[in-house]
Amino acid sequence: MISTFTMLSVDLKKTVTTGQVLGMLSILAFVICILTILKYAIYRRRYSQIWPARKVGFLNILGNLSEISLKLKDRNGFPLSALILQIGCAYSYLFRESQLFSVWISFVPFLIFKKAEAVEALISGNKSMKKNWSYNFLHPWLGTGLLTSIGDRASTSLSTLLQNFSFGHDIRLQWIPSHIVISKTTLGVTIGAQENSETQYIQSVSRAGDIILERIVIPWYWFDFLFYLLPIGRELKYHLGVLHGFTRSVIQEKKKKLLSGEKNNNIEKRKRKALMDVLLEHHLQMKDLTDEDIREEVDTFAFEGHDTTSMGMSWALYNIGLYKDVQEKIHEELDRIFGDDTERPVDTDDLKDMVYLDRVLKESQRLYPSVPVIARRVEEETNICGYPIPKGSSCIVFIHQLHRDETVFPNPEKFDPDRFLPENCANRHPYAYIPFSAGPRNCIGQRFALMEEKILISAILRNYTIESLCPRDKLPPSCELILRPSIPILVRIRPRQRHSS
Ligand code: HEM
Repeated sequence: MISTFTMLSVDLKKTVTTGQVLGMLSILAFVICILTILKYAIYRRRYSQIWPARKVGFLNILGNLSEISLKLKDRNGFPLSALILQIGCAYSYLFRESQLFSVWISFVPFLIFKKAEAVEALISGNKSMKKNWSYNFLHPWLGTGLLTSIGDRASTSLSTLLQNFSFGHDIRLQWIPSHIVISKTTLGVTIGAQENSETQYIQSVSRAGDIILERIVIPWYWFDFLFYLLPIGRELKYHLGVLHGFTRSVIQEKKKKLLSGEKNNNIEKRKRKALMDVLLEHHLQMKDLTDEDIREEVDTFAFEGHDTTSMGMSWALYNIGLYKDVQEKIHEELDRIFGDDTERPVDTDDLKDMVYLDRVLKESQRLYPSVPVIARRVEEETNICGYPIPKGSSCIVFIHQLHRDETVFPNPEKFDPDRFLPENCANRHPYAYIPFSAGPRNCIGQRFALMEEKILISAILRNYTIESLCPRDKLPPSCELILRPSIPILVRIRPRQRHSS
């Protein structure tokens, strides 16, 4: 009896002690939470007074996100990314005189840069070389490939190899859609997208991009442990599995062929190499690249090189189909270059002669930049155009709005290719028009992309006329990682009536 009583009292002591510890821990956690929220709220109040911003309540946990309706019915059925772009444009309009403004996603400030002077100060030097933390959400897909890597890209031999690849190889394109172009130039294989309209690979590239953007703007998706428990996280995992599986299988197959001494068509016969061939050769000779390094770079190029160019061409064709006078001028130019010959392949001189088409593509990238925003992290405290920017700040270059600065582009919504006549560009600020970004981390595929766009669009317009069926105000773009139409672009295509026929 005594011993039972003693045991009971010891057990009771243990329970009370554990309970107390748990209680104290909860109080501590609560206090830490409150202090953190207060710290960020004070930080927000301080910087909201310095940076132009729409005011948000001191303890408003969502920040400016609370102004966005996440309900589909409030958005007329348009995707969240279309609404985000519209809100971004509305904010830019509110702060149209300012070089930059801030928005708060939860307690995290994002500084939005939308005028040339501030953009130049941000991205031309080395202070903000680092891509900001939102690019970390691309890591599960692209690892630390060139796009997501930090630091100076000229510093590694791999980067030099990649840059030389882009500009140093003779790549001749034929009339094929851009996902096929990019799969042939990066992987050295043809994805059968023409036959199956959309293969799983292409679908997965697009869907993975959409999901990653949602992750960036919705704070409760930021935490890996929660995100991957949700259906959307599992869906991303599935698409990444498809993407990585495909690239890895091509790498293995090609490596086996190279090791067994079997001649690789790309390398031996055509002397034109796919990116993967270049990387694999390097891998086998120098032994400083792993299979995964190759996979990351190839995936990066497939991501950066596919959607950007295909959306660029889609928007350009849409604009050409809207403005008849523009299309007539392109037809005249193409007739001057090719005459009635609709079959002759395009050569480099032809590309140089397509000066009007060049201006049309530039104007289309002005109004519909394939990459509407890029982000940077400021590495050391700085001051830009009079605004203090603390170390670690997340900065967004809002290319879509930069290109609509009416002090640089009067009547900015007007589609006018002559803005890019040499005399009209002569005095323009070099950072006022940057569809391929600028500074040390600009696009390494820009010459390739422009060449590809000219070849494909001229091939279409040599043979057809195109008419866009939806006016611009009924086709709001969506600001995903890439600028896409929020509904399909409908066009009518007819064979051209030639004067001689
Ligand atoms: C119309 C087509 C294209 C546009 C508008 C475009 C635009 C851009 C932009 C704005 C960036 C900067 C991204 C950032 O800082 O976050 C970028 C980077 C990059 N682009 Fe492109 N791009 C296009 C086509 C291509 C093509 C065809 C390739 C490859 C074949 C390519 C490869 C890359 C790579 C590897 C980077 C990362 C560079 C770095 O961070 O150092 N791009 N591109």
